[in-house]
Amino acid sequence: MAQDDVFKKIISHCKEYGFVFPSSEVYDGLGAVYDYGQYGVELKNNIRKYWWDSMTLLNDNVVGIDSAIFMHPTVWKASGHVDAFNDPLIDNKDSKKRYRADVLVEDYLAKIDEKINKEVEKAAKRFGAAFDEAQFRSTNARTLEQQARRDAVHTRFAKALNDADLEELRQIILDAEIVCPISGTRNWTEVRQFNLMFATEMGSTADGAMRVYLRPETAQGIFVNFLNVQKTGRMKIPFGIAQTGKAFRNEIVARQFIFRMREFEQMEMQYFVRPGEEMEWFNKWKAARLAWHQALGLGDAKYRYHDHDKLAHYANAATDIEYEMPFGFKEVEGIHSRTDFDLGQHEKYSGKKMQYFDPELGESYTPYVIETSIGLDRMFLSIISGSYAEETLANGESRVVLKLPPALAPVKLAVLPLVKKDGLPEKAGEIVRMLRFDFRCQYDEKDSIGKRYRRQDAIGTPYCITIDHDTLSDDRVTIRFRDTMEQERAPISMLNDIIAEKVSMKNLLKKINY
Ligand code: GAP
Repeated sequence: MAQDDVFKKIISHCKEYGFVFPSSEVYDGLGAVYDYGQYGVELKNNIRKYWWDSMTLLNDNVVGIDSAIFMHPTVWKASGHVDAFNDPLIDNKDSKKRYRADVLVEDYLAKIDEKINKEVEKAAKRFGAAFDEAQFRSTNARTLEQQARRDAVHTRFAKALNDADLEELRQIILDAEIVCPISGTRNWTEVRQFNLMFATEMGSTADGAMRVYLRPETAQGIFVNFLNVQKTGRMKIPFGIAQTGKAFRNEIVARQFIFRMREFEQMEMQYFVRPGEEMEWFNKWKAARLAWHQALGLGDAKYRYHDHDKLAHYANAATDIEYEMPFGFKEVEGIHSRTDFDLGQHEKYSGKKMQYFDPELGESYTPYVIETSIGLDRMFLSIISGSYAEETLANGESRVVLKLPPALAPVKLAVLPLVKKDGLPEKAGEIVRMLRFDFRCQYDEKDSIGKRYRRQDAIGTPYCITIDHDTLSDDRVTIRFRDTMEQERAPISMLNDIIAEKVSMKNLLKKINY
């Protein structure tokens, strides 16, 4: 099935099964704003918990906070967001559609990469075991020509971004003959900068209202609380502060479902280190974060690092962790070495010292910061995409199943009486009342057992427990496993242990080898 079709199916599956709804749908929705439904919110909470526990339980020197969405407006002046949190936008005069100029070029480069990779794959099939990929890439005329074209555009692009040269960015689009996907023309406007922050007013106008912003990242709430946490928690460097919460960006082009939203949630951690030691910590966190993703078991090949071409003015290193979504490899998380920029700026603008006295060195300094910043909604999308499967069964029927990591699944088990009589529903109710303190359970007695299994597959429930007439005499039930559809008989007294072993967050956390 084409990847575009898979993505469309995932979006409608999310809606049909109560994971994600368009916001204000009865009023035809609101661009790039979404609501999470009854299963979506559970999955989202579980992802958040997996992140939170991995940060604050597995690291004795990482603590959490929850700062406000509104912050003093000078925060955003100091952080550079008022002056420089911009995206370059360009319009196509024929379709009247607006695009991010940098994304047009990135998509163009990704298409060339795809073409080269296809050539390599074809050749690998043709030559079999004797295939030498490096030799092919360095000698095949067509591949070399495409690579040279790609490299030339890429070099100009990286320079244009670094120099914030908007004219050159437009010229690259013209020279590469990039067309509007809607109109198919190259009738482009100039490239302009567009600030992504949402602003509103605080206080009544009579008193003189203050212009405030909806935070575009959660990180600044951590920076301005650095001293509060360091002092009250008696934290010693290196240490980290973690936070999850909403962020808001007036994205120019909001496409691809919950991948790029105007209201979204971030999970960020700022790790404060000694100046000079930042690269060591940057590399450690890079590895630790990839391990966190890979522990979910969606397939290691689905992730890759992508080092930034353009470093933000405050950063001395930056990498993305990308996941292979149905629409290609895309950023899910950023790991940034932010130097002492943010603390330095807040010191400058607030006039308050943002320094740490290091008792081992006997000196004060402004700490350097390694940041790990992941979008909760993007993580949600990567997990749903990696788990969605359509299967044809041995009996010719088909099923749609979400093979979610069991620890993250919204519902852990369904309890299903085989029939709606003979005391089976009562027995099933007893089991639910026994297990619901530890696991989110769902009771279902409607329709055939096959239909009930399908409903649970569609929301990713890892275990179905079936109660039949034998259960009443032998106190044993059938456990049906979502992924293999195998069934196993087990005593009711063992259910808690069997399920806990498979769905526990603890076992998932243990897989991360810090
Ligand atoms: N404090 C650093 C920071 O905010 P970023 O790369 O702009 O860095 C971090 O954002 C993460 O937040 C991204 O990797 C992505 O997962 C998520 N994110 C950013 N913009 C988003 C959007 N419009 N919709 C959904 N997630 C977004």
